[in-house]
Amino acid sequence: MTTSTWQHTTVLLTEAVDALIADAGEAAQQNVYVDATFGRGGHSRLILSRLPAGAQLIAFDKDVEAIAEAAQITDARFSIRHEGFRHLGELPLGGIAGVLMDLGISSPQIDNPDRGFSFRFDGP
Ligand SMILES: C[S@@+](CC[C@H](N)C(=O)[O-])C[C@H]1O[C@@H](n2cnc3c(N)ncnc32)[C@H](O)[C@@H]1O
Repeated sequence: MTTSTWQHTTVLLTEAVDALIADAGEAAQQNVYVDATFGRGGHSRLILSRLPAGAQLIAFDKDVEAIAEAAQITDARFSIRHEGFRHLGELPLGGIAGVLMDLGISSPQIDNPDRGFSFRFDGP
């Protein structure tokens, strides 16, 4: 199965991003934002659309399919780390303006029986 087969609707998309970057104003220019759970990138894409040129977005996800989805983002302000957000502490703390954590599983992980997580379909 390819990552694009499964649809994913981001929960609290605008609400979460509004809260993350509200009132950053000019300070957002030099700042780093973190999406600790990239998933299918719904939050990351909206964050990028709101960030000024000098800002950065660093994402994390442990799922190889999330990493494949992230490879489609060509924005130079964006990077992703294929590891758990327990590595957050390795980032330089001084520049971090905000961290978004959308904790849990991503629906394609359970929609696709090939992943072995589905409770609706047989799988490995
Ligand atoms: C609810 S989804 C995130 C959806 C995302 N906000 C979006 O808009 O598509 C949660 C994601 O967290 C990832 N995840 C779970 N545990 C993690 C961990 N310890 N570190 C990083 N990512 C993790 C899962 O693989 C899943 O992709």
